[in-house]
Amino acid sequence: MRVWSATDIDSVPSPLVVAPDDVVTPLARDRARELGIEIEVGRATTNDSPRPAAVRPRPAALPPSGALYRRGAPLAIASWARAPTRAAAHVAVVGAGHVGAMTARRVAESDLFERITLVDVVPGLAAGLALDMWHAASLGGFSTRVEGTDELADIAGADYVVVTAGRPRKPGMSRTDLTSVNAEIITDVGAAIRRHAPASRVVVVTNPLEEMTHLMQRVTEFPASRVVGMAGVLDSARFCSLVGLTGKAVPSAVHAHALGSHGPEMVIPLSQATVGATPIEDIVDSETLAAIVERTRDSGAEVVALLQTGSAYFAPAEATAKMVRAMATGTDEVITACVRSHGAYSLVDTYIGLPVRLGPAGVDEIVLLDLRPAELNALRQAAERIAARTSELG
Ligand SMILES: NC(=O)c1ccc[n+]([C@@H]2O[C@H](COP(=O)([O-])OP(=O)(O)OC[C@H]3O[C@@H](n4cnc5c(N)ncnc54)[C@H](O)[C@@H]3O)[C@@H](O)[C@H]2O)c1
Repeated sequence: MRVWSATDIDSVPSPLVVAPDDVVTPLARDRARELGIEIEVGRATTNDSPRPAAVRPRPAALPPSGALYRRGAPLAIASWARAPTRAAAHVAVVGAGHVGAMTARRVAESDLFERITLVDVVPGLAAGLALDMWHAASLGGFSTRVEGTDELADIAGADYVVVTAGRPRKPGMSRTDLTSVNAEIITDVGAAIRRHAPASRVVVVTNPLEEMTHLMQRVTEFPASRVVGMAGVLDSARFCSLVGLTGKAVPSAVHAHALGSHGPEMVIPLSQATVGATPIEDIVDSETLAAIVERTRDSGAEVVALLQTGSAYFAPAEATAKMVRAMATGTDEVITACVRSHGAYSLVDTYIGLPVRLGPAGVDEIVLLDLRPAELNALRQAAERIAARTSELG
């Protein structure tokens, strides 16, 4: 019987034939998967299995240079860091503030991507946060490399770009109060994305969400399917969590879609909300549901008022990371995103929150829900108000 450890795997040929009574450690199996080495079970042995004669050369990138560990050394991407079967994708997060930093962390923890580039105009901010995040890699069990920079050009070649650059609200402000200052930032960042990451899919987080997503698409001139906004995933999650406070369901059992705008025109069609497979209206009374919808709409302001400085970021980052993961993995899940409708729900050319399926190309499909007439009407009114606001962008 022989015990095969991860270090043994670096120097064996493929397939590696082990005896039925050999032990291959879980780390050795992981290492074999990374290196594309098949493990086959051969004949039983009474002695130690002989080591295979043909010795595989160590991958060129191993061991990494000692320079990698010197203080101030560039944090180069090591080719051994990722398994080639994973989405060999590069995610850029522009804006390393509260939402951006937390999004980068949640995306890194998913361990789905090769690397993340965090960018901020404040010198050293993104680099410091990225290094701090990378220090947690062994604890968090991820090997997605996280780098930080103050150069937008470093997003070059990114497959996904998350944009959180911009001012957040202060108490008493509405999201639309941010329009002019954030429009300038989105215009600059959009031009850089167009130049340096022309094939990317863009997730806009900066508020006011619908206007900034619309502007991003206009500046990048990317197909609308590649520019989406994050709000509906967050607002739907807020609704589910608030239902959880009634004690009638745990948040993860509640399913709902927050459509329309990330603001006063938010539409949460109760006809589509369920707890498990049961319509929510059979479980929670209508008065309570109306109050929950209202509180969901104002949840962002509620957090801003409590914090006094800055706005929500735990749930927004979780929601943003979910969208990036959904695009990379192409799940079948229907989630809400701010997308441009080309006729779905009779809405034309408006960025608005709608149920979608996301995939590697961006928006795979806008999903048509069987809405009640009043819900459909509310959605159309929301679209009209959003269109009026975006037209003021000029
Ligand atoms: N869509 C949503 O559901 C949602 C939820 C929460 C926050 N937001 C919005 O996201 C934005 C960010 O919120 P936050 O709490 O992270 O704010 P924050 O102030 O913590 O971070 C914003 C960061 O953007 C950086 N920045 C500004 N201009 C830049 C540029 N040109 N290039 C690169 N970086 C730049 C700033 O230096 C700052 O670090 C705000 O507009 C906020 O309203 C949206």
